[in-house]
Amino acid sequence: MYNLLKGKKGIIFGALNEQSIAWQTAKACFNEGAELVLTNAPIALRMGEINKLSAECNNAPVIPADVVNMEDLKKLFEESMKHFGGGIDFILHSIGMSLNVRKGKSYTEIDYNFNQKTLDISAMSLHRVLRTAWDMDALNESASVIALTYIAAQRVFPDYNEMADAKALLENVARSFGYYYGKRKKVRVNTVSQSPTKTTAGSGVKGFDGFMAYAEKMSPLGNASADDCAKYCTLLFSDYAKMVTMQNLFHDGGFSFTGVTAEVIEQMKE
Ligand code: NAI
Repeated sequence: MYNLLKGKKGIIFGALNEQSIAWQTAKACFNEGAELVLTNAPIALRMGEINKLSAECNNAPVIPADVVNMEDLKKLFEESMKHFGGGIDFILHSIGMSLNVRKGKSYTEIDYNFNQKTLDISAMSLHRVLRTAWDMDALNESASVIALTYIAAQRVFPDYNEMADAKALLENVARSFGYYYGKRKKVRVNTVSQSPTKTTAGSGVKGFDGFMAYAEKMSPLGNASADDCAKYCTLLFSDYAKMVTMQNLFHDGGFSFTGVTAEVIEQMKE
């Protein structure tokens, strides 16, 4: 380890279980010297798994917050700043939920009430988090904020359903808020566009295994794991990425710029 985050203090949203990208990122940040606060929706915390992660991160406080509840977010930031004795240096937004996917509704038959909730939880929540921090002046100079996204925001992956729209909105919120927070306090806001990864949220996508196998074949480096993503996030949280902001950064083994690979051509011949 390189002590990349020594002395830095961060909030990690979205560690549900060991497979979660947020779980791996919390561990990687802790290993790089960061102090952490862990948070998730109250219902997700009820399973209690997160206490295991907290124990591995020097008993990091676990503070419940539904990311679409502004009161919860305010309390989260207040308690975090009290715990840290000051401002926050980095935030991981690792949150996704599609109500229409859950209810088995395809893109052409979505329920709009569910859709509003999906967009709120999966995309506007980044605005809510940044807005809360903005109003409380909770982020330190040059703080780094990352939200996780997927390439379905740019290209069509039919079974990704309404989450594709949610990710497009999420990426735009990162750019727009990144402008204001950059101007105000040199805060960086980026999205990391990750390979398909076997997690609870990932596995909710129809035909996920086939999807993963295809991406593996279409990526010169293969699919990036949750652990790889965690390491990339620590780099982006560190001072080594101080001038990177308002970007959508592909962390996908080269998938996004590959037209076709020899393996896929070979398979088409069969
Ligand atoms: P996960 O299921 O482990 O994490 C999703 C998290 O969102 C859970 O911890 C869940 O409790 C939290 N969440 C849902 N509703 C919430 C609410 N109202 N308030 C607070 N938290 C809430 O799955 P994963 O894959 O680690 O997902 C993390 C992020 O990575 C998501 O944004 C996902 O879209 C993104 N991503 C995942 C990929 C994959 O293939 N697994 C690929 C690219 C991006």
